[in-house]
Amino acid sequence: MSQLPDPLDHRSADHLIEDLFLQRWSPRAMTGAPLPERELMRLFEAARWAPSTYNEQEWRFLYAGRASDHWPTFFGLLTEANQLWCQQAAVLIVGLSCRIFSKNGKPNPVHTLDCGLAVENLLLQGAAMGLVCHGMAGFDRSKAKAALNVPEEYDVEVMIAVGLPGNPDDLPKDYRDMDRKPTSRKPLAEIAAEGRFAF
Ligand SMILES: Cc1cc2nc3c(=O)[nH]c(=O)nc-3n(C[C@H](O)[C@H](O)[C@H](O)COP(=O)(O)O)c2cc1C
Repeated sequence: MSQLPDPLDHRSADHLIEDLFLQRWSPRAMTGAPLPERELMRLFEAARWAPSTYNEQEWRFLYAGRASDHWPTFFGLLTEANQLWCQQAAVLIVGLSCRIFSKNGKPNPVHTLDCGLAVENLLLQGAAMGLVCHGMAGFDRSKAKAALNVPEEYDVEVMIAVGLPGNPDDLPKDYRDMDRKPTSRKPLAEIAAEGRFAF
């Protein structure tokens, strides 16, 4: 039984939206238990159905389960700060996007955006399944590209830690409080306005 708080006890939306948007958050406490492959595939399946420019689907995902031979390579890409809490993850994922359109070889200006849409699908699916799914920019992209044999035309975009929810008390001290209270957001008026930029 997870000791993590329910985000719905801490977050409320100012306008009517689906609870899943509030339920998705980025805790760090995980149990270290493995994630069955069929559950992991549900995350990638959600990512698969994301929209993309010309239906390009230029995202790619590489992953390593903690019992796999690939785990030390993936874990070694993370910053020290992320390694501290990712030790108990079940799976580490690396998200990639191709910068070049498959149909004509021209630069795709929205490859990162498309990959982000797929990643958010994955994160939301993880939240719906009650998993910890935590995106990370804190890792070495060049090292990832080399270590994972990523072709030149792909950018390394993100890493995601996935795991079964754990107990914040088991986290290193600096991280415990962050897992006791889900983050909030700026007011809507600070992010959306009609007409010209007026923030
Ligand atoms: C692309 C991306 C990169 C992130 N990088 C890190 C990271 O390296 N380490 C970390 O602990 N959290 C990381 N986060 C988590 C954010 O800090 C978190 O999403 C943000 O504070 C909002 O909180 P919430 O996800 O719980 O709603 C990242 C999130 C995203 C989307």
